[in-house]
Amino acid sequence: MPAVPTSTPTPGSTPTPGPADRSRPAVSVENVYKVFGRRPVKAVQRLTEGASRDDVKNLGTAAVIDASFEVAQGEIFVVMGLSGSGKSTLIRMLNGLWKPTAGHVRIGDDDLSTVDAKRLRALRRTRVSMVFQHFALLPHRTVLDNAAYPLEIQGMPREQRIAKATEALEMVGLGGWADSLPSQLSGGMRQRVGLARALAADTDVLLMDEAFSALDPLIRREMQEQLLELQRTLHKTIIFITHDLNEAMHLGDRIAVMRDGRIVQIGTSEEILSEPANDYVAQFVADVDRTRVLTAQSVMVPPADGTTYSATSDDSQYVEQDTPLAELFAPAAESAAPLEVHDDAGDLVGVIPRDALLEAMVPGTEPETTTEAPGSDARGAMGAPPTDEPALPGPATTKGATA
Ligand SMILES: Nc1ncnc2c1ncn2[C@@H]1O[C@H](COP(=O)(O)OP(=O)(O)OP(=O)(O)O)[C@@H](O)[C@H]1O
Ligand SMILES: [Mg+2]
Repeated sequence: MPAVPTSTPTPGSTPTPGPADRSRPAVSVENVYKVFGRRPVKAVQRLTEGASRDDVKNLGTAAVIDASFEVAQGEIFVVMGLSGSGKSTLIRMLNGLWKPTAGHVRIGDDDLSTVDAKRLRALRRTRVSMVFQHFALLPHRTVLDNAAYPLEIQGMPREQRIAKATEALEMVGLGGWADSLPSQLSGGMRQRVGLARALAADTDVLLMDEAFSALDPLIRREMQEQLLELQRTLHKTIIFITHDLNEAMHLGDRIAVMRDGRIVQIGTSEEILSEPANDYVAQFVADVDRTRVLTAQSVMVPPADGTTYSATSDDSQYVEQDTPLAELFAPAAESAAPLEVHDDAGDLVGVIPRDALLEAMVPGTEPETTTEAPGSDARGAMGAPPTDEPALPGPATTKGATA
Protein backbone atom coordinates (compact mmCIF):
# COMPACT_ATOMS: atom_id res chain seq x y z
CA MET A 1 0.00 0.00 0.00
CA PRO A 2 1.37 3.42 -0.86
CA ALA A 3 2.42 5.36 2.20
CA VAL A 4 0.72 8.64 2.98
CA PRO A 5 3.12 11.52 2.39
CA THR A 6 3.99 13.12 5.71
CA SER A 7 5.07 16.47 4.34
CA THR A 8 2.46 17.47 1.81
CA PRO A 9 -0.67 15.39 2.18
CA THR A 10 -2.77 15.53 -0.93
CA PRO A 11 -6.39 14.99 0.02
CA GLY A 12 -8.40 13.52 -2.75
CA SER A 13 -5.59 11.50 -4.21
CA THR A 14 -6.66 8.24 -2.57
CA PRO A 15 -6.91 5.50 -5.14
CA THR A 16 -10.26 3.77 -5.15
CA PRO A 17 -9.73 0.07 -4.68
CA GLY A 18 -11.98 -2.56 -6.21
CA PRO A 19 -14.53 -4.58 -4.25
CA ALA A 20 -13.37 -6.12 -0.95
CA ASP A 21 -9.75 -7.15 -1.32
CA ARG A 22 -8.89 -9.51 1.50
CA SER A 23 -5.19 -9.73 0.73
CA ARG A 24 -4.57 -6.11 1.73
CA PRO A 25 -6.31 -5.15 4.94
CA ALA A 26 -7.19 -1.47 5.03
CA VAL A 27 -7.50 -1.56 8.79
CA SER A 28 -6.03 -4.05 11.18
CA VAL A 29 -6.58 -4.33 14.89
CA GLU A 30 -4.32 -6.62 16.87
CA ASN A 31 -4.88 -7.56 20.51
CA VAL A 32 -6.19 -4.13 21.34
CA TYR A 33 -7.16 -3.17 24.87
CA LYS A 34 -8.54 0.10 26.19
CA VAL A 35 -8.95 0.60 29.89
CA PHE A 36 -10.14 3.88 31.36
CA GLY A 37 -9.28 4.64 34.95
CA ARG A 38 -6.61 4.62 37.55
CA ARG A 39 -4.32 1.80 36.59
CA PRO A 40 -4.95 0.83 32.98
CA VAL A 41 -1.69 -1.01 32.36
CA LYS A 42 -2.07 -3.13 35.47
CA ALA A 43 -5.65 -3.88 34.43
CA VAL A 44 -4.51 -5.08 31.00
CA GLN A 45 -1.91 -7.29 32.61
CA ARG A 46 -4.57 -8.88 34.80
CA LEU A 47 -6.90 -9.29 31.83
CA THR A 48 -4.21 -11.06 29.81
CA GLU A 49 -3.77 -13.38 32.76
CA GLY A 50 -7.42 -14.33 32.52
CA ALA A 51 -9.11 -11.84 34.83
CA SER A 52 -12.65 -10.78 33.89
CA ARG A 53 -13.89 -7.27 33.34
CA ASP A 54 -15.43 -7.32 36.79
CA ASP A 55 -12.23 -8.60 38.38
CA VAL A 56 -10.36 -5.47 37.28
CA LYS A 57 -13.08 -2.99 38.17
CA ASN A 58 -11.02 -1.45 40.94
CA LEU A 59 -8.22 -0.73 38.45
CA GLY A 60 -10.40 0.83 35.74
CA THR A 61 -13.16 0.30 33.19
CA ALA A 62 -12.11 -2.23 30.58
CA ALA A 63 -13.95 -0.78 27.57
CA VAL A 64 -12.24 -2.92 24.91
CA ILE A 65 -10.61 -6.23 25.72
CA ASP A 66 -8.27 -8.08 23.37
CA ALA A 67 -9.92 -7.06 20.09
CA SER A 68 -8.38 -8.44 16.91
CA PHE A 69 -9.70 -8.23 13.36
CA GLU A 70 -8.82 -7.06 9.90
CA VAL A 71 -11.04 -5.09 7.57
CA ALA A 72 -10.45 -5.59 3.87
CA GLN A 73 -10.33 -2.76 1.38
CA GLY A 74 -13.83 -2.15 0.12
CA GLU A 75 -15.50 -4.10 2.92
CA ILE A 76 -18.40 -2.96 5.10
CA PHE A 77 -17.50 -4.21 8.56
CA VAL A 78 -20.20 -3.75 11.16
CA VAL A 79 -19.53 -3.67 14.87
CA MET A 80 -22.64 -4.54 16.79
CA GLY A 81 -23.35 -4.74 20.48
CA LEU A 82 -25.51 -3.36 23.22
CA SER A 83 -24.94 -0.05 24.92
CA GLY A 84 -21.67 0.00 26.84
CA SER A 85 -20.16 -2.94 24.99
CA GLY A 86 -17.23 -0.83 23.77
CA LYS A 87 -18.17 0.01 20.18
CA SER A 88 -17.45 3.75 20.30
CA THR A 89 -14.24 3.22 22.22
CA LEU A 90 -13.10 0.80 19.54
CA ILE A 91 -13.93 3.13 16.64
CA ARG A 92 -12.22 6.08 18.35
CA MET A 93 -9.03 4.07 18.45
CA LEU A 94 -9.36 3.47 14.71
CA ASN A 95 -9.06 7.17 13.93
CA GLY A 96 -6.40 7.76 16.52
CA LEU A 97 -8.63 9.85 18.77
CA TRP A 98 -7.72 7.49 21.59
CA LYS A 99 -4.60 5.40 21.95
CA PRO A 100 -5.03 1.76 22.91
CA THR A 101 -3.77 0.84 26.37
CA ALA A 102 -2.18 -2.14 24.63
CA GLY A 103 -2.12 -3.62 21.15
CA HIS A 104 -1.86 -2.22 17.65
CA VAL A 105 -4.19 -0.41 15.28
CA ARG A 106 -2.94 -0.12 11.73
CA ILE A 107 -4.36 1.96 8.92
CA GLY A 108 -2.69 0.49 5.88
CA ASP A 109 0.96 0.25 6.86
CA ASP A 110 0.83 2.89 9.57
CA ASP A 111 0.71 1.77 13.18
CA LEU A 112 -1.29 4.45 14.96
CA SER A 113 0.44 3.76 18.26
CA THR A 114 3.89 4.53 16.90
CA VAL A 115 3.30 7.32 14.36
CA ASP A 116 4.17 10.81 15.54
CA ALA A 117 1.55 13.50 16.06
CA LYS A 118 2.14 15.14 12.70
CA ARG A 119 1.77 11.89 10.84
CA LEU A 120 -1.35 11.05 12.82
CA ARG A 121 -2.92 14.35 11.79
CA ALA A 122 -2.03 13.64 8.18
CA LEU A 123 -3.59 10.19 8.41
CA ARG A 124 -6.75 11.59 9.90
CA ARG A 125 -7.03 14.11 7.10
CA THR A 126 -6.26 11.85 4.22
CA ARG A 127 -7.17 8.31 5.20
CA VAL A 128 -9.97 8.20 7.74
CA SER A 129 -13.15 10.21 8.09
CA MET A 130 -15.99 9.87 10.51
CA VAL A 131 -19.76 10.26 10.29
CA PHE A 132 -21.38 10.99 13.63
CA GLN A 133 -24.77 10.11 15.03
CA HIS A 134 -25.77 13.71 15.63
CA PHE A 135 -24.51 15.14 12.35
CA ALA A 136 -22.27 17.74 14.04
CA LEU A 137 -23.20 20.43 11.51
CA LEU A 138 -22.29 24.09 11.97
CA PRO A 139 -25.67 25.87 12.22
CA HIS A 140 -24.67 29.21 10.67
CA ARG A 141 -22.93 27.77 7.67
CA THR A 142 -24.62 26.67 4.51
CA VAL A 143 -24.95 23.02 3.57
CA LEU A 144 -22.16 23.49 1.03
CA ASP A 145 -19.81 25.11 3.53
CA ASN A 146 -20.58 22.39 6.04
CA ALA A 147 -19.72 19.71 3.52
CA ALA A 148 -16.51 21.57 2.64
CA TYR A 149 -15.54 22.26 6.24
CA PRO A 150 -12.90 19.52 6.75
CA LEU A 151 -11.26 20.56 3.48
CA GLU A 152 -11.20 24.15 4.66
CA ILE A 153 -9.47 23.02 7.87
CA GLN A 154 -6.92 21.26 5.70
CA GLY A 155 -6.23 24.55 3.94
CA MET A 156 -7.56 23.51 0.56
CA PRO A 157 -8.19 26.55 -1.70
CA ARG A 158 -11.84 27.62 -1.77
CA GLU A 159 -12.51 26.86 -5.40
CA GLN A 160 -11.17 23.33 -5.08
CA ARG A 161 -12.99 22.52 -1.86
CA ILE A 162 -16.26 23.90 -3.18
CA ALA A 163 -15.93 21.67 -6.23
CA LYS A 164 -15.33 18.60 -4.06
CA ALA A 165 -18.14 19.42 -1.65
CA THR A 166 -20.53 20.09 -4.52
CA GLU A 167 -19.71 16.73 -6.01
CA ALA A 168 -20.22 15.01 -2.65
CA LEU A 169 -23.59 16.72 -2.15
CA GLU A 170 -24.66 15.51 -5.59
CA MET A 171 -23.68 11.97 -4.60
CA VAL A 172 -25.99 12.00 -1.60
CA GLY A 173 -28.85 13.61 -3.50
CA LEU A 174 -28.57 17.09 -2.00
CA GLY A 175 -27.40 18.89 -5.12
CA GLY A 176 -30.15 21.51 -4.88
CA TRP A 177 -29.61 22.33 -1.21
CA ALA A 178 -26.10 23.78 -1.25
CA ASP A 179 -27.16 27.26 -0.13
CA SER A 180 -29.61 26.17 2.57
CA LEU A 181 -28.87 26.25 6.26
CA PRO A 182 -28.92 23.03 8.30
CA SER A 183 -32.02 24.24 10.16
CA GLN A 184 -33.94 24.17 6.86
CA LEU A 185 -33.28 20.44 6.43
CA SER A 186 -34.96 17.35 7.82
CA GLY A 187 -33.02 14.92 10.01
CA GLY A 188 -32.36 12.56 7.14
CA MET A 189 -31.09 15.40 4.96
CA ARG A 190 -28.81 16.61 7.73
CA GLN A 191 -27.32 13.20 8.03
CA ARG A 192 -26.78 13.23 4.27
CA VAL A 193 -24.76 16.41 4.75
CA GLY A 194 -22.73 14.56 7.38
CA LEU A 195 -22.15 11.78 4.90
CA ALA A 196 -21.30 14.25 2.12
CA ARG A 197 -18.77 15.90 4.40
CA ALA A 198 -17.05 12.57 4.94
CA LEU A 199 -17.19 11.76 1.22
CA ALA A 200 -15.79 15.18 0.26
CA ALA A 201 -12.70 14.43 2.32
CA ASP A 202 -12.23 11.50 -0.06
CA THR A 203 -10.58 9.20 2.44
CA ASP A 204 -10.60 5.49 1.75
CA VAL A 205 -11.77 4.59 5.26
CA LEU A 206 -15.14 5.76 6.58
CA LEU A 207 -16.03 5.32 10.23
CA MET A 208 -19.72 5.56 11.04
CA ASP A 209 -20.75 5.49 14.70
CA GLU A 210 -24.50 4.93 14.98
CA ALA A 211 -24.74 7.24 11.99
CA PHE A 212 -28.37 6.38 11.25
CA SER A 213 -29.61 5.70 14.76
CA ALA A 214 -31.12 9.13 15.33
CA LEU A 215 -33.27 8.87 12.20
CA ASP A 216 -36.79 7.60 12.16
CA PRO A 217 -37.22 4.12 10.72
CA LEU A 218 -38.25 4.92 7.14
CA ILE A 219 -35.56 7.56 6.68
CA ARG A 220 -33.07 5.25 8.29
CA ARG A 221 -33.96 2.59 5.80
CA GLU A 222 -33.49 5.05 2.94
CA MET A 223 -30.06 6.01 4.25
CA GLN A 224 -29.04 2.37 4.44
CA GLU A 225 -30.04 1.88 0.82
CA GLN A 226 -28.19 5.02 -0.20
CA LEU A 227 -25.04 3.89 1.58
CA LEU A 228 -25.15 0.51 -0.16
CA GLU A 229 -25.79 2.24 -3.47
CA LEU A 230 -22.82 4.59 -3.00
CA GLN A 231 -20.65 1.71 -1.89
CA ARG A 232 -21.30 -0.10 -5.16
CA THR A 233 -19.36 2.59 -6.97
CA LEU A 234 -17.05 4.04 -4.29
CA HIS A 235 -15.75 0.81 -2.69
CA LYS A 236 -14.80 2.54 0.54
CA THR A 237 -13.65 0.62 3.56
CA ILE A 238 -16.50 1.23 5.97
CA ILE A 239 -16.61 0.45 9.66
CA PHE A 240 -20.17 0.90 10.74
CA ILE A 241 -21.32 0.78 14.34
CA THR A 242 -24.85 -0.02 15.29
CA HIS A 243 -26.78 -1.72 18.01
CA ASP A 244 -29.54 -2.58 15.58
CA LEU A 245 -29.23 -6.15 14.45
CA ASN A 246 -31.32 -5.78 11.31
CA GLU A 247 -29.22 -2.83 10.25
CA ALA A 248 -26.05 -4.82 10.94
CA MET A 249 -27.24 -7.75 8.88
CA HIS A 250 -28.46 -5.56 6.07
CA LEU A 251 -25.29 -3.53 5.69
CA GLY A 252 -22.45 -5.72 6.85
CA ASP A 253 -20.25 -7.86 4.66
CA ARG A 254 -19.11 -9.13 8.04
CA ILE A 255 -20.28 -8.39 11.55
CA ALA A 256 -18.36 -8.33 14.81
CA VAL A 257 -20.57 -8.90 17.83
CA MET A 258 -19.28 -7.22 20.99
CA ARG A 259 -20.23 -7.95 24.52
CA ASP A 260 -18.78 -6.33 27.62
CA GLY A 261 -15.71 -5.11 25.76
CA ARG A 262 -14.94 -8.35 24.00
CA ILE A 263 -15.59 -9.37 20.42
CA VAL A 264 -17.47 -12.62 20.85
CA GLN A 265 -17.96 -13.48 17.18
CA ILE A 266 -16.98 -12.23 13.74
CA GLY A 267 -18.73 -13.55 10.67
CA THR A 268 -21.13 -12.94 7.85
CA SER A 269 -24.81 -12.52 8.71
CA GLU A 270 -25.41 -16.08 7.65
CA GLU A 271 -22.57 -17.45 9.75
CA ILE A 272 -23.73 -15.58 12.82
CA LEU A 273 -27.28 -16.69 12.30
CA SER A 274 -26.61 -20.31 11.49
CA GLU A 275 -23.57 -20.87 13.70
CA PRO A 276 -23.80 -18.50 16.66
CA ALA A 277 -20.60 -18.76 18.71
CA ASN A 278 -22.47 -19.05 21.99
CA ASP A 279 -25.87 -18.73 23.63
CA TYR A 280 -25.48 -15.01 23.96
CA VAL A 281 -25.15 -14.50 20.22
CA ALA A 282 -27.90 -17.05 19.57
CA GLN A 283 -30.27 -15.14 21.82
CA PHE A 284 -29.19 -11.86 20.30
CA VAL A 285 -30.10 -13.02 16.82
CA ALA A 286 -33.20 -14.96 17.80
CA ASP A 287 -35.59 -12.32 16.51
CA VAL A 288 -33.97 -11.81 13.12
CA ASP A 289 -36.06 -12.73 10.11
CA ARG A 290 -34.04 -15.75 9.08
CA THR A 291 -35.84 -16.11 5.78
CA ARG A 292 -34.31 -12.82 4.62
CA VAL A 293 -30.77 -13.44 5.78
CA LEU A 294 -30.25 -17.12 5.07
CA THR A 295 -29.87 -18.13 1.45
CA ALA A 296 -30.30 -21.29 -0.57
CA GLN A 297 -26.59 -21.96 -0.28
CA SER A 298 -26.73 -22.19 3.50
CA VAL A 299 -29.49 -24.80 3.63
CA MET A 300 -28.76 -26.93 0.58
CA VAL A 301 -27.41 -30.46 0.87
CA PRO A 302 -25.16 -32.21 -1.64
CA PRO A 303 -27.10 -33.82 -4.50
CA ALA A 304 -27.15 -37.60 -4.09
CA ASP A 305 -24.93 -39.37 -6.61
CA GLY A 306 -26.67 -40.52 -9.72
CA THR A 307 -30.00 -39.04 -8.71
CA THR A 308 -31.70 -36.92 -11.28
CA TYR A 309 -33.81 -34.05 -10.21
CA SER A 310 -36.40 -31.83 -11.71
CA ALA A 311 -34.02 -30.12 -14.12
CA THR A 312 -34.38 -33.12 -16.34
CA SER A 313 -38.06 -32.46 -16.75
CA ASP A 314 -39.64 -29.48 -18.42
CA ASP A 315 -41.19 -28.01 -15.31
CA SER A 316 -37.78 -27.74 -13.67
CA GLN A 317 -37.60 -25.72 -10.47
CA TYR A 318 -34.25 -24.30 -9.62
CA VAL A 319 -32.99 -21.40 -7.53
CA GLU A 320 -29.73 -19.49 -7.34
CA GLN A 321 -27.26 -19.93 -4.51
CA ASP A 322 -27.96 -16.49 -3.10
CA THR A 323 -31.74 -16.67 -3.27
CA PRO A 324 -33.11 -15.82 0.18
CA LEU A 325 -35.11 -18.48 1.98
CA ALA A 326 -38.16 -16.25 1.79
CA GLU A 327 -38.22 -16.83 -1.95
CA LEU A 328 -37.84 -20.60 -1.75
CA PHE A 329 -41.18 -21.48 -0.26
CA ALA A 330 -43.27 -20.93 -3.35
CA PRO A 331 -41.11 -23.04 -5.68
CA ALA A 332 -40.71 -25.68 -2.96
CA ALA A 333 -44.46 -25.92 -2.60
CA GLU A 334 -44.92 -26.36 -6.33
CA SER A 335 -42.50 -29.21 -6.69
CA ALA A 336 -42.53 -32.56 -4.95
CA ALA A 337 -38.85 -33.09 -5.75
CA PRO A 338 -36.15 -31.27 -3.79
CA LEU A 339 -35.37 -27.81 -5.17
CA GLU A 340 -32.22 -27.61 -7.21
CA VAL A 341 -29.63 -24.98 -6.45
CA HIS A 342 -27.62 -23.74 -9.41
CA ASP A 343 -24.45 -21.67 -9.43
CA ASP A 344 -23.82 -18.72 -11.74
CA ALA A 345 -22.77 -21.06 -14.52
CA GLY A 346 -26.05 -22.95 -14.24
CA ASP A 347 -24.48 -26.06 -12.74
CA LEU A 348 -26.22 -28.07 -10.06
CA VAL A 349 -24.42 -27.45 -6.75
CA GLY A 350 -26.93 -28.74 -4.24
CA VAL A 351 -30.53 -29.57 -3.49
CA ILE A 352 -33.00 -28.45 -0.86
CA PRO A 353 -35.43 -31.06 0.38
CA ARG A 354 -38.53 -29.56 1.98
CA ASP A 355 -37.61 -30.75 5.46
CA ALA A 356 -34.23 -28.97 5.25
CA LEU A 357 -36.06 -25.77 4.38
CA LEU A 358 -38.37 -26.11 7.36
CA GLU A 359 -35.54 -27.02 9.73
CA ALA A 360 -33.63 -23.92 8.72
CA MET A 361 -36.53 -21.83 9.94
CA VAL A 362 -36.08 -22.95 13.52
CA PRO A 363 -33.34 -21.04 15.33
CA GLY A 364 -30.78 -23.11 17.17
CA THR A 365 -31.24 -26.36 15.32
CA GLU A 366 -27.47 -26.76 15.43
CA PRO A 367 -26.72 -25.48 18.91
CA GLU A 368 -23.10 -24.96 19.85
CA THR A 369 -22.02 -25.89 23.30
CA THR A 370 -21.71 -22.70 25.25
CA THR A 371 -19.49 -21.50 27.98
CA GLU A 372 -21.64 -18.73 29.24
CA ALA A 373 -25.31 -18.04 29.59
CA PRO A 374 -26.51 -14.64 28.42
CA GLY A 375 -27.13 -12.22 31.20
CA SER A 376 -25.12 -14.24 33.68
CA ASP A 377 -23.00 -11.25 34.59
CA ALA A 378 -23.71 -8.30 36.82
CA ARG A 379 -25.43 -6.57 33.94
CA GLY A 380 -28.37 -8.87 33.52
CA ALA A 381 -29.89 -6.76 30.81
CA MET A 382 -26.98 -7.52 28.52
CA GLY A 383 -28.48 -10.92 27.90
CA ALA A 384 -31.57 -9.52 26.28
CA PRO A 385 -31.75 -8.50 22.66
CA PRO A 386 -31.68 -4.73 22.18
CA THR A 387 -34.99 -3.12 22.90
CA ASP A 388 -34.17 0.57 23.08
CA GLU A 389 -34.39 1.06 19.34
CA PRO A 390 -37.50 0.79 17.25
CA ALA A 391 -37.21 -2.14 14.91
CA LEU A 392 -36.83 -1.37 11.25
CA PRO A 393 -40.10 -1.52 9.39
CA GLY A 394 -40.74 -4.78 7.67
CA PRO A 395 -38.41 -7.73 7.50
CA ALA A 396 -34.69 -7.34 7.10
CA THR A 397 -33.48 -7.96 3.60
CA THR A 398 -30.23 -9.27 2.31
CA LYS A 399 -27.93 -7.58 -0.09
CA GLY A 400 -28.76 -10.29 -2.51
CA ALA A 401 -32.39 -9.35 -2.34
CA THR A 402 -31.80 -5.69 -2.96
CA ALA A 403 -28.79 -5.62 -5.26
N1 LIG B 1 -13.89 8.53 28.45
C1 LIG B 1 -14.28 7.50 29.21
N2 LIG B 1 -13.91 7.41 30.51
C2 LIG B 1 -14.28 6.39 31.27
N3 LIG B 1 -15.04 5.37 30.84
C3 LIG B 1 -15.45 5.39 29.58
C4 LIG B 1 -15.10 6.45 28.69
N4 LIG B 1 -15.67 6.21 27.47
C5 LIG B 1 -16.33 5.04 27.61
N5 LIG B 1 -16.21 4.55 28.86
C6 LIG B 1 -16.77 3.29 29.36
O1 LIG B 1 -16.37 2.27 28.49
C7 LIG B 1 -17.42 1.34 28.28
C8 LIG B 1 -17.72 1.24 26.79
O2 LIG B 1 -18.26 2.49 26.34
P1 LIG B 1 -18.56 2.79 24.82
O3 LIG B 1 -18.99 4.21 24.75
O4 LIG B 1 -17.40 2.39 24.01
O5 LIG B 1 -19.78 1.83 24.55
P2 LIG B 1 -20.75 1.74 23.27
O6 LIG B 1 -20.79 0.30 22.90
O7 LIG B 1 -20.34 2.72 22.25
O8 LIG B 1 -22.14 2.13 23.91
P3 LIG B 1 -23.38 2.96 23.26
O9 LIG B 1 -24.13 1.96 22.41
O10 LIG B 1 -24.17 3.37 24.45
O11 LIG B 1 -22.83 4.11 22.49
C9 LIG B 1 -18.59 1.83 29.11
O12 LIG B 1 -18.58 1.14 30.32
C10 LIG B 1 -18.28 3.29 29.31
O13 LIG B 1 -18.84 3.74 30.51
MG1 LIG C 1 -21.28 4.38 21.38
